[in-house]
Amino acid sequence: RTARFTLDPAFTVGEVNPRLFGSFVEHLGRCVYTGIFEPGHPTADADGLRQDVLDLVRELGVTAVRYPGGNFVSGYRWEDSVGPVEDRPRRLDLAWRSTETNRFGLSEYIAFLRRIGPRAEPMMAVNLGTRGVAEALELQEYANHPSGTALSDLRAEHGDKDPFGIRLWCLGNEMDGPWQTGHKTAEEYGRLAAETARAMRQIDPGVELVACGSSGQSMETFAEWEATVLKETYDLVDHISLHAYYEPHDGDIDSFLASAVDMESFIENVVATCDHVGALLKSKKRINLSFDEWNVWYMSRSQAEVAALDWPEAPRLLEDSYSVTDAVVFGSLLIALLRHADRVTVACLAQLVNVIAPIMTEPGGPAWRQTTFFPFAQASAYGRGEVLDVRVDSPTYETRKYGEADLLHATAVRAGDGGVTVFAVNRGRTEPLPLEVALGGLGLTSVVEHSVLSDADPDARNTLAEPERVAPHAAGGTTLRDGRLSAVLEPLSWNVIRLA
Ligand code: AHR
Repeated sequence: RTARFTLDPAFTVGEVNPRLFGSFVEHLGRCVYTGIFEPGHPTADADGLRQDVLDLVRELGVTAVRYPGGNFVSGYRWEDSVGPVEDRPRRLDLAWRSTETNRFGLSEYIAFLRRIGPRAEPMMAVNLGTRGVAEALELQEYANHPSGTALSDLRAEHGDKDPFGIRLWCLGNEMDGPWQTGHKTAEEYGRLAAETARAMRQIDPGVELVACGSSGQSMETFAEWEATVLKETYDLVDHISLHAYYEPHDGDIDSFLASAVDMESFIENVVATCDHVGALLKSKKRINLSFDEWNVWYMSRSQAEVAALDWPEAPRLLEDSYSVTDAVVFGSLLIALLRHADRVTVACLAQLVNVIAPIMTEPGGPAWRQTTFFPFAQASAYGRGEVLDVRVDSPTYETRKYGEADLLHATAVRAGDGGVTVFAVNRGRTEPLPLEVALGGLGLTSVVEHSVLSDADPDARNTLAEPERVAPHAAGGTTLRDGRLSAVLEPLSWNVIRLA
C-alpha cells in the first residue's frame, strides 16, 4: 500500500528556530580532550583546537552548543576553568569518575564557538547541584559584564577583554535524577531555580533561561515535576528542558524504529503541562521547550563502563558506534523535533564529538563522520524555514512497545525561496514504501534531489578502519508531475527530497 500526505502552504506548524540544530559539549570522556581539543595533534591550531574536527562541526551545521554539562555541571566550579592554564586545579569529576584537568575551560569554549562561525551560539549551564545563586551570578558577571567590576576585569586580565555575550542559560541539569550530584525534589529545585533566575535577570533582564524538566518521560515524577517547577518559575524562565535517549531493548528493533512515537508524545505531554500551568496562573505567556539532550544511546552498556573507572583523564566513555538502523531512528527523532517546531525552539544533539556523537576522532589520528552525521547535516542545511503541517495516511506495522505504528514518518519544511524539503523515514525493514504527496498550491515543479541513507546491511557503520563505508546516495525514479510527488522509499531508510 502507498503512504500519502498533502502539503498546503495555508497549513503550517511554525517557523524553525535555528537553535533546533544545537548540540552539546560536555566534559565527559573524550568529547573535549582529544575530541575538539588536542594540543599537539597534526591539525591543531595554536589554541589546541583540532581543525579536522572544526571542519566537520561546520559541515554538520550546529548552532547552539550547550556546555559544560550534563551531569558534569552539577559539580562544576567555573573559577577552576579560567585564568592561566598552569594555575588551574585538577579536580575529581564525580559524575563520570574521572579527573578533570581544566586545561580546556570557559574561554577555550568561547574560542571554539567563534572558530565554528557566526551560526554557533553559547548555551551555558550553571551548577545548581553543589552550588547556587551566588556562583551563578559570579559566572554571569565574569562572562557577560563589559568591565569595571572585579570579575569582568578579571576576565580582561585573563585575556578576554570582550564579554562573551552568553544569552541562553540552563538552570542546572537533570535535577530530578537521583544520580545527579545535589539531586533535589521538585519543590526544592523550583525554589532554587526561581531565585537563581530572578537574580540573573537583575544583572540582565535579557537573558533566556531554561528550567530543568524531567530527564525522561519514564521518570516517576514526570509531569508533576514540570508542573511544580513551573508554578515557581513561570514568569522567570523561557524554556523547560526535555531529555530523551533511545536504544533497542531485548533485540526489539521494530519498537526501536518507532522511538519517535515516544518522543512526540513526550513533547506533547510537556506542552500540555506548560499550558496547564499557564492556565492556572492565568498567564498569557507561553513556555517553550528546550529538548537539550536527545539521541540514540546504548545507555545500558555505559553504566558498567562508568562504575569501573578509577579517576582517569579523558577515558574512552560512551563511544557508541552508530549503524544505518541507528541513523534511521535518529533521522526520525529529527523529524519529531521539526514536527513540533512551534514549541520546541531549542534542541541539542547529545553530544558533538566522541561521546554518543556524530563525529569520532582518534587521538593523534583522523576524525570521521558516523552514520548519524548525515541526517543531522541535511536537516540543518535544508530544514530552515516554515514547517508544513504533515498528516500522513500510512500503512502500519505492529510494535511491542507502541502498538500499531505508521511505516512512514515525515515532515516538510518550506524555505524562504519557496522550495520545499520533505524529510521522510521508512520504518519498514523489508519492503520499499511507495509515497505520494499532493503539493497543490505550492507552485513546485521539479525534484532537485532525492537523497537516501540506507544499506543492504542495516548494521553497516563508519569506523576508524572504514570511515567512509556509509554515506547517502541518490535515489532514482522520484518524479513531480501535475503537483504530485511520487517516490519509493527504500526499506529502512532516511530520505531527503528537495523540491523547487
Ligand atoms: O549526555 C550524557 C548524559 O546524559 C548527560 O551528562 C546527562 O545530562 C544525561 O543523563
